[in-house]
Amino acid sequence: MAFTLGAGSALLKPIQVGGVTAENRIFMAPLTRSRADADGTPSSLAAQYYAQRAEAGLIISEATAVCEQANGAYLNTPGLYTDRQQEAWAEIASAVHGAGGKMFVQLWHVGRMAHPEISGFENVGPSPIAADLVTHTPSGKKPLPVPRALTAAEIAEIIGLFRAAARRAVDAGMDGVEIHSANGYLLHEFLSDVVNQRTDAYGGSPQNRARFTAEVVEAVAAEIGPERVGLRISPGNNAGDMTEVDQISAYELLLCRIASLNIAYLHVVSEPSAPAFAAIRTQWEGTLVLNTPRAVDTDFAELENLATWGVISAAAVGRAFLANPDLVQRLTSGAELNEPDVATFYAPGPAGYIDYPTLDELAEPQSA
Ligand SMILES: Cc1cc2nc3c(=O)[nH]c(=O)nc-3n(C[C@H](O)[C@H](O)[C@H](O)COP(=O)(O)O)c2cc1C
Repeated sequence: MAFTLGAGSALLKPIQVGGVTAENRIFMAPLTRSRADADGTPSSLAAQYYAQRAEAGLIISEATAVCEQANGAYLNTPGLYTDRQQEAWAEIASAVHGAGGKMFVQLWHVGRMAHPEISGFENVGPSPIAADLVTHTPSGKKPLPVPRALTAAEIAEIIGLFRAAARRAVDAGMDGVEIHSANGYLLHEFLSDVVNQRTDAYGGSPQNRARFTAEVVEAVAAEIGPERVGLRISPGNNAGDMTEVDQISAYELLLCRIASLNIAYLHVVSEPSAPAFAAIRTQWEGTLVLNTPRAVDTDFAELENLATWGVISAAAVGRAFLANPDLVQRLTSGAELNEPDVATFYAPGPAGYIDYPTLDELAEPQSA
């Protein structure tokens, strides 16, 4: 596959994202790569992996746990709650900045998507409703258990953990954090009118369902400054066996509540034609990043059109960046793109991680 962004391309124009200037509007979407050490320290190859992709306008890191209990959806995912983890993130920040890039760390709690055999803890969620899924544990594929409903005190504690992890990210030299409230993980579970059946201040009305995500955004913005905070949402996305009958009301109230904070950006995973996206587009006046979740190749022509017409401020691209460290260069020159190798998405080691060739490497004569 190949596509050329012509001279004057909207996606190639710089954009201010909170406190940093992104050199273009093609951002790297968050991608879990399951290569972290068992204690949640990012892999020793992670700095190289991210620095290779520094020509993205903004790199958004793989999802990163705010505490040990926040983990457990996949093996070998990183965290940002120990000094050792923070040191590794500092090396990544330094490598990316050294290569001219900008980077936010995506922070998550996986909620009911955790399996106790991965996390070592019982899984939790808004209500005792299990995701009807199996996950890969160290002892094979297992169904996800019914989660325990969090207490209000635990919710307050988790908000504090997001805040502390965000502080660590900034202390590590990162440009900011993205709050992961998408794809069926804990904060998204609270937004849902199906998975969240609570009767307290965090469930029931759309306003109540939006409360947890809003409080996380507010706490993190108070800690590190709103210009360093992004938020990812995916209304109607059924990842993680997520169901939402009403895909609009809780999001409208969430965006209404956080509008005056002026966070760095809102990141929406959606089809651009979806009613929920139209509602968000009408409401959100700040920087809007779109990621289109397609089974097939990214439609760069569509993204360029959306950016040209001002429907989106920037596009986040996942698998194409995974397989093409020099994606922006390739799109600028119309070069053929490397195909992503699905078999190594979550496999340990350097293969399919730091060895996707750049155009320059492909042009070099191979040594005998
Ligand atoms: C290997 C892989 C890992 C992913 N990990 C994350 C993640 O950590 N956080 C997240 O919000 N989305 C994650 N996603 C979703 C992507 O950010 C993105 O929404 C999806 O790949 C669709 O975009 P694309 O067509 O540009 O790849 C992941 C997707 C893939 C393929």
